[in-house]
Amino acid sequence: MPQFRFLFFSLLLLTHTTMAAMAQLKPGFYSRTCPDAESLVREVILRSMIREPRSAASVMRLQFHDCLVNGCDASLLLDDTPNMLGEKLALSNINSLRSYEVIDEAKEAVERVCPEVVSCADIVIMAARDAVALSGGPSWEVKLGRKDSLTASQEDSNQVMPSPRANATSLIDLFHNFNLTVTDLVALSGSHSIGKGRCFSVVYRLYNQSGSGQPDPNMDPNYQNKLDRLCPIGGDGNVTGDLDATPHVFDNQYFKDLVNQRGFLNSDQSLYSGDARTREVVRHFSWDQDGFFSAFVEGMVKLGDLQSDRPGEIRRNCRVVNKPAFGLLKDWRNVIKRVRSS
Ligand code: HEM
Ligand SMILES: *[C@@H]1O[C@H](CO)[C@@H](O)[C@H](O)[C@H]1NC(C)=O
Ligand SMILES: *[C@@H]1O[C@H](CO)[C@@H](O)[C@H](O)[C@H]1NC(C)=O
Ligand SMILES: *[C@@H]1O[C@H](CO)[C@@H](O)[C@H](O)[C@H]1NC(C)=O
Ligand SMILES: *[C@@H]1O[C@H](CO)[C@@H](O)[C@H](O)[C@H]1NC(C)=O
Repeated sequence: MPQFRFLFFSLLLLTHTTMAAMAQLKPGFYSRTCPDAESLVREVILRSMIREPRSAASVMRLQFHDCLVNGCDASLLLDDTPNMLGEKLALSNINSLRSYEVIDEAKEAVERVCPEVVSCADIVIMAARDAVALSGGPSWEVKLGRKDSLTASQEDSNQVMPSPRANATSLIDLFHNFNLTVTDLVALSGSHSIGKGRCFSVVYRLYNQSGSGQPDPNMDPNYQNKLDRLCPIGGDGNVTGDLDATPHVFDNQYFKDLVNQRGFLNSDQSLYSGDARTREVVRHFSWDQDGFFSAFVEGMVKLGDLQSDRPGEIRRNCRVVNKPAFGLLKDWRNVIKRVRSS
């Protein structure tokens, strides 16, 4: 297989050397090259929400899961290949992340009018903003100009994405590694104002918190009864429950719920019950929705500023890297076949 290795290596070299360093992100990046990009994405998000209201939550979650793993580079969107285990089947994503097809639809809409101009990474950022705004939350100007990654890593996702069992203290530390403050952590967790979670993510807290054989004591008894009925021991882990009492409206109900010990995930309730530093911010946002909204916007912009330092491209299809566009290497599968049979 030395020839195979040589080909693979030169392919890597070729793609690497054609790519520039980290991009300078800025608002209106596509105002001349694709002026309709932002409005096209917003229309697709609106249509998807009419088809299925929950898709707003599912789409905005993609920004978090993309940006935390090697920066906002659409690595999350790459399908697995025979040579690469991507992020879609990582622990936090498998049977959980959804609405990838909404991003595909937005990409197709944009490709129709300006092919190979707008990155998938930027579409994720625009789509998250639009999903929040169209759910009754704040809107904001997004910085654009990201490139799409050439690889993805299941391992990297498993290393970094937090578990629903995490407590506030460990989440403060994790976010700190990304230069995100305690306020950023609490505000960004407020994204759980919309959407659903699975029984799989809460059963341990209902029946065996920290291996104690007991439920998490920080649960309102009526709420606990409700969750026990939704998620009985040995039940279907894929059954879903609402993350707050108003799961289709982006508002500060999530924080009111936490104050009343009606948080769904352990990582949610712990922000109020588990650490004095986060508790203070939760209490604040529970009565100050405007304060929550402005902190949320700040957090989303910072999350969007996490950049990859790796080479990138503008993918044509968000699920696969572009094929090398030159003769011999046009079709990767043919290359492998040719090398195998030589
Ligand atoms: C702070 C640490 C976080 C943890 C531990 C966490 C964990 C989770 C878990 C376990 C679920 C339910 C998944 C399932 O059961 O299938 C969920 C849902 C969700 N998360 Fe987070 N999350 C965190 C932060 C964030 C952030 C920062 C955002 C966005 C900015 C976000 C957006 C969402 C949304 C919108 C949903 C609902 C998705 C849907 O209905 O499809 N989360 N999260
Ligand atoms: C929080 O979680 C970490 C990591 O799982 C653990 O080491 C720590 O003891 C927990 N802290 C509290 C206050 O429960
Ligand atoms: C956090 O900020 C420091 C200092 O500005 C910087 O060197 C580091 O790269 C940042 N970390 C991340 C993950 O952005
Ligand atoms: C509870 O968790 C502990 C530690 O993770 C485990 O050893 C024990 O078997 C669990 N109990 C039940 C009933 O699942
Ligand atoms: C949820 O459904 C998927 C696919 O149908 C299945 O593979 C998985 O085991 C289920 N997960 C749980 C926790 O029950």
